[in-house]
Amino acid sequence: MDAADAKKVIAVLNEGVSNELGAVIQYLWHHYMAEGMESPAIVDLFEKVSRDEMKHVERFAERVVALGGEPTTQMRPIRKGGDLRRMVQDDLELEYEARELYRRYIPQLAEAGDSTSRRLVEAALADEEEHIRTFEVILSRIRKP
Ligand SMILES: [Fe+2]
Ligand SMILES: [Fe+2]
Repeated sequence: MDAADAKKVIAVLNEGVSNELGAVIQYLWHHYMAEGMESPAIVDLFEKVSRDEMKHVERFAERVVALGGEPTTQMRPIRKGGDLRRMVQDDLELEYEARELYRRYIPQLAEAGDSTSRRLVEAALADEEEHIRTFEVILSRIRKP
């Protein structure tokens, strides 16, 4: 990989870091706020998914460093608050956005010739797809009267 490609990859991965930092904070915040809502399973889920996103931050950031870049500390805008249904809806929305981003990154990273970064993003995408399924199920349960 030449310097120009490495620079492109660093920019892509840093956008991923920013996205993941926002997810960590949004889900963690929902974890705190849902505490009093008598929904222990969902409270725990927010924390678990937040931890998954933290692993994504770490993997992307480590790759940025390996390529000679500096991981961003800028977090994407987040949505917080509202009732439990609102929180799950907002988290699901963030997951859809992450899925869209990572689907876009994979061909970009392949084009830059960085199969290591491409595989990192593919693994994160698989996790986001699992998060989407989980949040969709929870949301359908909350909707039931
Ligand atoms: Fe993630
Ligand atoms: Fe996720």
